[in-house]
Amino acid sequence: MKKITILISGRGSNMQAIIRNTQSGILKNICTIQSVFSNKKDVAGLHIAKNLSIPTYVIVSKGKKRKNYNAMLLDWLKQQNPDFIILAGYMKILSPEIIREYPNKIINIHPADTTKHQGLHGYDWAFENKLKTTKITVHFVDEGLDTGEVIGKKDVDISDCKMIEEVEQKGLKVEHKFYSECLREIFEDR
Ligand code: GRF
Repeated sequence: MKKITILISGRGSNMQAIIRNTQSGILKNICTIQSVFSNKKDVAGLHIAKNLSIPTYVIVSKGKKRKNYNAMLLDWLKQQNPDFIILAGYMKILSPEIIREYPNKIINIHPADTTKHQGLHGYDWAFENKLKTTKITVHFVDEGLDTGEVIGKKDVDISDCKMIEEVEQKGLKVEHKFYSECLREIFEDR
């Protein structure tokens, strides 16, 4: 069984889906969630994790120098000693020191094709550019912004969406299933 730590910054809907899948879904007996980390306190995802009996930990990033914050996070990660680190709406950029400590062990989900759009607001970008489909992308994290090796891509038809909220709702529904499917492939080494 792989030991997983999930990093979040907010809502935590992908985190919730992954935890549920480890407890009674397609990730059962494949991985165990040892902890959830947030760089913001009191966010919804932390409450969800606690309710699902997952230990949580917070280091507030705001007001800290980036270098100091990342050094504290790396110390904490080393204590956790996870097999994989899963980013689920984690809004900070990990330092090169952290990336180098965990090569091909950090995984992220992005709401758009990472070759076409990097960084924040992927659904807004897809909607504003009137795309018929957006490609949800699960990828390894390297030192660039959303440039790591792609694990899987999934098309979501957004051609009938009249509002950005619909795009996000439709996309998230797919993310929640697809992220766990990709993780299973990686954890089972397929
Ligand atoms: C998701 O759309 C994910 O693709 C992106 O950030 C959002 C996080 O949402 N990286 P949530 O916190 O998992 O609900």
